[in-house]
Amino acid sequence: MSSISALRPLVIKGKKIKVPIIQGGMGVGVSLHPLARAVAREGGLGIVSSACLDRLVSRRTGKKKNVYEAAYEEVSLAKTEGGFAGINIMMALVRDYSDSVKGALDAGADAIISGAGLPLSLPAIQPPKDTALIPIVSSARALDIICKKWEKLGYRPDAVVLEGPLAGGHLGFRIDQVDLESNRLENLLPPVKDRAVKCGDFPVIVAGGIYTHEDILRFLGMGADGVQMGTRFLATEESSASETYKQAVVHATEEDILVAHRPGSPCGLPFRVIKQSPMYVSALQQKRPPKCDKGYVLMKDADGNFTVCPAKENNKDYFCICNGLLSSAGYNTDKEEALYTVGTNAARVDKILSVKRLMNELTGIGG
Ligand SMILES: Cc1cc2nc3c(=O)[nH]c(=O)nc-3n(C[C@H](O)[C@H](O)[C@H](O)COP(=O)(O)O)c2cc1C
Ligand code: SF4
Repeated sequence: MSSISALRPLVIKGKKIKVPIIQGGMGVGVSLHPLARAVAREGGLGIVSSACLDRLVSRRTGKKKNVYEAAYEEVSLAKTEGGFAGINIMMALVRDYSDSVKGALDAGADAIISGAGLPLSLPAIQPPKDTALIPIVSSARALDIICKKWEKLGYRPDAVVLEGPLAGGHLGFRIDQVDLESNRLENLLPPVKDRAVKCGDFPVIVAGGIYTHEDILRFLGMGADGVQMGTRFLATEESSASETYKQAVVHATEEDILVAHRPGSPCGLPFRVIKQSPMYVSALQQKRPPKCDKGYVLMKDADGNFTVCPAKENNKDYFCICNGLLSSAGYNTDKEEALYTVGTNAARVDKILSVKRLMNELTGIGG
């Protein structure tokens, strides 16, 4: 019997995603349309990342694109070969949030997945029509808060992603809570599943540390409806990470991966990195003078202007994440050092695969 039958489809907002695997959004510039399109083609849900997309798409096309246009274009391209594709839009990118949402909705994204903060007002931005709205949470409490707020807006989540502490990127836990037994994904799942059932019975998708076909079967057996995976898709031919980034993932050992915090992300959340990332090494020595020339994580000041980022003045506790991540996607590499974010499982990656091969391995068809 083909193992694909062991992976039952994931149904979100009436759409039947044949393979219950979501390729997690990876910013900056790692999950763009080539990766999302390949995953969609293989029957999963492909997700582009909205982070800094205006810059990345403007550079690629040679035409100045604003945030709305860039989100519209990237989602449209991700859907050109069939299957399901959507976008990840982080709450922490406050300034561009609404425009990214509108661009994705107008392009007919199959899903908007949103975390790095609680996406409390997501359903109010524009009627989502067929687009599924999917929050990312790290606890049942966060899901409760979102459900209550969305109920007032006349909406309920179409699914939820529960992300545990082994994930790549920003983590939804305090630094002292990352290693707690109670925060293991296995232990977070039952209460979140319970809330999801009570709150309207929508699918629960688990993320963080899932690596093999057997891992997927194990979590589906525990009540999850699907999985979201990042690190494995980072290490594919179709991901838009730079070659040096991919090689750093291939060579990383367990000891090379740590959760950065002071110096850490100006978004204020713990952030997992390869400790040899050039920008992280420089941050430890305060080698890069503070300089803000990208502004994607700016927050509002008392007058309502987007001027505030902790990394703007303080290079002791924070690194400049906009520039570090843009550099790791091959942007301005002559001017800025790269910052490599990964999940704990990067230590297990020993080669770069095509998406087709990876999806075959994950669905149990063969490696
Ligand atoms: C390189 C990289 C970049 C990421 N960027 C984002 C992001 O922009 N927004 C987000 O919500 N999650 C982001 N994540 C988290 C992934 O979408 C995914 O949930 C997570 O990596 C799952 O854990 P895994 O890497 O162990 O599979 C990122 C992860 C990686 C590895
Ligand atoms: S200081 Fe750096 S991280 Fe902060 S908004 Fe400016 S460019 Fe981005």
